[in-house]
Amino acid sequence: MIQPIETTEAKPKGLKIGNIQLDVPFIQAALSGYSDRAMRQLAREFGCPLTLPGVMLDTTTVNPTVIRKGINAIGDDEHPIGGQIMGSTADVMAEAAKVIESLGYDFVDLNFACPVPKVLRRCRGGHLMSHPDELIEIFQRVRDAVKCPVAMKLRAGFDRNDEDMEHFWKICEMAADRGVDMLAVHGRTVIQRYKSFPDWSILAELKQRLPNTTIIGSGNLFSSKVIAQKLKQTGVDGALIARGAIGNPWIFPETKALMNDEPAPTPPTVEEQGDVILRHFNMMAEDYYGGKAIGMFRKFSVRYCRRHPEKNKVQVDLMAAESADELRAAIKKWYGVG
Ligand SMILES: Cc1cc2nc3c(=O)[nH]c(=O)nc-3n(C[C@H](O)[C@H](O)[C@H](O)COP(=O)(O)O)c2cc1C
Repeated sequence: MIQPIETTEAKPKGLKIGNIQLDVPFIQAALSGYSDRAMRQLAREFGCPLTLPGVMLDTTTVNPTVIRKGINAIGDDEHPIGGQIMGSTADVMAEAAKVIESLGYDFVDLNFACPVPKVLRRCRGGHLMSHPDELIEIFQRVRDAVKCPVAMKLRAGFDRNDEDMEHFWKICEMAADRGVDMLAVHGRTVIQRYKSFPDWSILAELKQRLPNTTIIGSGNLFSSKVIAQKLKQTGVDGALIARGAIGNPWIFPETKALMNDEPAPTPPTVEEQGDVILRHFNMMAEDYYGGKAIGMFRKFSVRYCRRHPEKNKVQVDLMAAESADELRAAIKKWYGVG
């Protein structure tokens, strides 16, 4: 097992993805079912310099009806933003990347990390971690098809065995040789999905092997303290904040302050929490019709109420709401806003 390194070198505070320069070394991860406009907007307001919507299928992305309907459209105030695509053939992925670029996304991110069985069966996402030549062919075709930066999201191997680890290193080294603009690595294997602890020592070794490539790490980054600690221990360039940001946009200013050696921001009051919850829900209600926002917002409510002193009772009320009015009434009751 490779031991993580404790770096002593002072690193620049920001993060570089090709021609995109960020002032802090973290971004909000692509989170299917979560990182829609509302979550992205809050993240940005709270100081996260770059966000990603959930992954888009290459075949859907190139579909003219989808393009016409503007399903993958982004707001003018959302830059810089990455567009993540997933697929199994280089031709369609290259076409999809062109669409993403033409829609105004600032970089293309290739998903070779998704562990969902249906995705693997269709030879997409994490499946390609055990097919390095096909993966690199996709990367190269995309690289040649667009002018914007191209990044990749990887897992730390398909499975934890010698052959899969060889594939992992081959993928990373070939991508770096061919000018990948960022490698984002989730420190679990595809087989591990979200179980067991992510192996951050692989991230440390990756940064040592590829010092000139932007490397960002992902896996169990649930607090600013852990994020700062992982970056320091491994020497990677940045962090991908994923589940840690669900119902918790305060993680961004907390992390920024810690990394800049500034005092921690004052924790949000109950009323300030309520303002954010209400605004988040109102944005979702604008974007999703017919009560869909209520169901979708429950996943956020569960996380938001963790900061409330009476979280169990708040959770019961927020989860029980069946209409927008009921939810707003519950927010008013517990947070005093609305
Ligand atoms: C509900 C959910 C949806 C996700 N969707 C995506 C996605 O669309 N694209 C992607 O690259 N990763 C996706 N991920 C993986 C995360 O970006 C991240 O790498 C992973 O959750 C590990 O980080 P964490 O343990 O800090 O959450 C998703 C994870 C979750 C839990």
